[in-house]
Amino acid sequence: MRKVKFVFILVILFLSGKIIYAQPSNIDPYHYKIKKNIECKNGAVVSAHTLASEAGVQILKEGGNAIDAAIATQLALAVVYPGAGNIGGGGFLVAHLKSGKNISIDYREVAPAAASRDMYLDAIGNPVTNLSINGHLSAGVPGTVAGLFASMKYAKLPFKKLIQPAIDLAEKGFAITEAQAKSFNATHDDFIKLNTTIPVFVKDNLWKAGDTLVQKDLANTLKRIRDLGEKGFYEGETAKLIAEEMKKGKGIITEKDLKKYRAKLRTPVVFNYRGHIIITMPLPSSGGIILEQMMKMAEKYNVAAMKFETAQSVQLMTEIERRAYADRANFLGDADFVKVPVKTLVSDKYLKERMKDYEPGKAGSSTQTKAGNIKESEQTTHLSVIDNEGNAVSVTTTLNNSYGSKTVVSGAGFLLNDEMDDFSVKPGVPNLYGAVGNEKNAITPGKRMLSSMTPTIVLKNNQPYLVVGTPGGTTITTSVFQTLVDIIDFKMTTDDAVNKPKFHHQWLPDQVDVEKGFPEDVKKQLTKMGYTLKERSAIGRTEVIKKTAPQKIEAVADKRGDDDAAGY
Ligand code: DON
Repeated sequence: MRKVKFVFILVILFLSGKIIYAQPSNIDPYHYKIKKNIECKNGAVVSAHTLASEAGVQILKEGGNAIDAAIATQLALAVVYPGAGNIGGGGFLVAHLKSGKNISIDYREVAPAAASRDMYLDAIGNPVTNLSINGHLSAGVPGTVAGLFASMKYAKLPFKKLIQPAIDLAEKGFAITEAQAKSFNATHDDFIKLNTTIPVFVKDNLWKAGDTLVQKDLANTLKRIRDLGEKGFYEGETAKLIAEEMKKGKGIITEKDLKKYRAKLRTPVVFNYRGHIIITMPLPSSGGIILEQMMKMAEKYNVAAMKFETAQSVQLMTEIERRAYADRANFLGDADFVKVPVKTLVSDKYLKERMKDYEPGKAGSSTQTKAGNIKESEQTTHLSVIDNEGNAVSVTTTLNNSYGSKTVVSGAGFLLNDEMDDFSVKPGVPNLYGAVGNEKNAITPGKRMLSSMTPTIVLKNNQPYLVVGTPGGTTITTSVFQTLVDIIDFKMTTDDAVNKPKFHHQWLPDQVDVEKGFPEDVKKQLTKMGYTLKERSAIGRTEVIKKTAPQKIEAVADKRGDDDAAGY
């Protein structure tokens, strides 16, 4: 009888997930190697951290699909990549499902109910951007956890299994990388200044590579999410901790704001480019619309003949970028709140008109190139996943700046975003990334701030061919644009498309940002044409998966960070 009882208890424990989900994974979190470029047959995950990529691949091996893996990877990133991986921020998922259906899920943060248009202006109307970038008041209502549960509709495995690697990594700790150690040390003072309780990211002496980071409070929050689902974050203990933290630091997110938050299923932006189908993110990301604008403008030219990174191709693409970003600043905002002329903006007629004043060999000017004429009534992270069932998933998520607001919810162990800065705090006043906006992107309670995140999938012969995306603020969309042109037009290797220097123009300021290593002779020629150039140390961290045939997958992680490509 006692034996029967024991077996019965075992079965109950098994069914409730207590045994099967506690299985240790075969990844050693204290000793791991970063892999930049792999080839594999079945499935791959590229993300900002080895332990997160490996957590995703483990899920694929255990029978999960690309959505399962994307969920597990995001949760692991919230633990091992606190600068951008998150549960206190938001993101976008774009997927091509094996059924042939394309979906996108919007889990962008929203402005809290007590937010208002001029909340970041002082008494005489000047912007106080420190408030929209640092600390409690800069946080929007987080969307990530709702997004993960909205993604579950397309997953195969139970959520409890997908979150377990993250719980283990938070509870037992993992070895941090050299870049992580440097980044914690560099943020030490801000972490102290912007928190009401000293967070685990602060250490008396300096962090160094190989030190173990344990996050007990975060592990407990993740367990509440595991056990209670979405309510484990948006209601009860976690919501209470967030609201209490807000009160302590003059923030405005309330329990009511949290309970009200919903992720939204959106119709993705889908368009053709030289025989490929491009699937990407619609509003409230500007990414999809301006990527479509840029690629359609580029399609009219023989870009391939101009060759990679020549003065000719860079000038053309710069002028294309200038025009798209002028439209971003003037027309784009959350379409649930403001009217956006999306159809016109991507129409052939309109785009042809936009390029009419393009002069090869001569720099354009942002004072002359305004937004088009329409008559009408540095921290984010990307992950690319592919499985052997025909699913491809592209996810970009963000806290906005590195470590977001840098404010950790006391007792809950996670960082809050500073996404409010992506609103236009005042028309014409640039945000953290120099992007300007107007009333379309003004703050309104419940509204989503305009984003640049551009998770993208490319189909060739109706099959997933490329999964692409990157962080990088406003440079995100130009990096995706260039990566696609590099692979499709210039026939570059995936590795080169990811790692060769990139450039960026965003209308205002009127300058071309060129990445370190950009060819000197091209810089000279561009300067001669009349362009102002500015060198930047790194543009984005692009993660690309390319599938060229069944069982032929190449996954490349950007060399600019600790990013890692895993597969099997
Ligand atoms: O949503 C956006 O466009 C920005 N919050 C993204 C920020 C970002 O990429 C920072 N990364 N380096």
